[in-house]
Amino acid sequence: MTQPVSDALVFFGATGDLAYKQIFPSLQRLAKRDKLKGPVIGVAKSGWKLDDLKDRARKSVEQHGGLDPDGFEKLMARLRYVDGDYSDIATFQQVRKELGAAQHPIHYLAIPPSLFGEVLEQLKQSGCADGARVVIEKPFGHDLESAMALNRIVRTVFEEKDVFRIDHYLGKNAVQNLIFFRFSNSFIEPIWNRHYVESVQITMAESFGVQGRGGFYDETGAICDVLQNHLMQLLSNVAMEPPIGSGAEPLRDERTKVLKGVQCMEPSTVVRGQFDGYLQEAGVKPNSQVETYVALKVCINSWRWKDVPFFIRAGKSLPVTATEVVARLRQPPQIFSRDPMPPNYVRFRVSPDMSIGIGANVRLPGEVPRGVPVEMLATQHTNPEDILPYEELLADAIAGNQARFARVDYVEEAWRILDPLLKNMPPVRSYKPGTWGPVEAEKLAEADGGWLNPSS
Ligand code: BG6
Repeated sequence: MTQPVSDALVFFGATGDLAYKQIFPSLQRLAKRDKLKGPVIGVAKSGWKLDDLKDRARKSVEQHGGLDPDGFEKLMARLRYVDGDYSDIATFQQVRKELGAAQHPIHYLAIPPSLFGEVLEQLKQSGCADGARVVIEKPFGHDLESAMALNRIVRTVFEEKDVFRIDHYLGKNAVQNLIFFRFSNSFIEPIWNRHYVESVQITMAESFGVQGRGGFYDETGAICDVLQNHLMQLLSNVAMEPPIGSGAEPLRDERTKVLKGVQCMEPSTVVRGQFDGYLQEAGVKPNSQVETYVALKVCINSWRWKDVPFFIRAGKSLPVTATEVVARLRQPPQIFSRDPMPPNYVRFRVSPDMSIGIGANVRLPGEVPRGVPVEMLATQHTNPEDILPYEELLADAIAGNQARFARVDYVEEAWRILDPLLKNMPPVRSYKPGTWGPVEAEKLAEADGGWLNPSS
């Protein structure tokens, strides 16, 4: 069924960090491409006026991608500002007034998760939710129970077809390319299973710390910040079955099916770490046990993947900033080379740049048969005109396309997998900034050939 195009966009948290780093630059691009209809209303409680928000928007785009005079002017012409407390119905009545004749507004909740419930309720009471959609930022809950409770609240206000649980990883072209590459090339599918793939590794490494977000991070930690969402999305895209067509629901069905096959996490196959110096970050509790690093091994109980270990890790203050998925292939019999050769692999680099590498072995010239590993590399250079992840996802939400948003059952499955771990966390191990995490994490992957570290 065709969905109506949204005719207004309201974003809560307009003076916050996410709006500054991601939302304004994306809105400027959307305005330039004439994708925005009706007013764009920022809401926050900062004691600001519209001009203050415009100043903030200018600084935001100048720092993140550059000011585009045409796009910026178009955005400024639409921008409105409502200053007020989220607990006060008057704030929402003011939003309703600013919406004017809009019939299908989008409400984007770029605010701390603890405020989701209250804002949803106020949207309903004020009439702002009528005919509307909602975009909800992560983390969506902090465990299975809270995610289910939040879903119940959401459903008292919005129908599932109007709920867009955003995960910006799904807006990255390189992540979409994981599915595209898998299902658009005939050579990959025959080997993409337990008969050829020995193990899969997913690494999200960041060379920086918490970047002044200590308060947020200490409430969240790596498991809820990136494992439950970004890394689970990578896992489901890499392991999913071919969907029946490219529509939103077949894709979302297949992603959810992968998670349904993931066995619950055993704390013994999980390593949590914290970089030395984290406790000195502003906003972090003095004896915080929150992890800035997590590494784990999971198995997917499916016909395709049974007994293939999937190693997943994410960490701050590691040696490089790079996100990669690597499938290590099984060894063929070693007939020619005198020395043992490393296994072949397929490597998807997802961030910060996009490339696909195929690891192979070739013969070195010389009398003695010796091999050398090489990588066949396909890269796509990012260019400043590429669509930004938030731009792409907001455009989808405006058009009512849910394919790249997490469905209710998907989110609950992701929490189901992690719940036993969250209830029985292994201790945090310390690691030195600039290293690949705690030594315990090395042991986790040792028997399966060790970790393959991305380069910078
Ligand atoms: C965010 C996390 O969702 O993703 C951050 O909150 C993390 O902690 C960021 O740094 C990484 O995103 P990207 O697009 O820079 O890889």
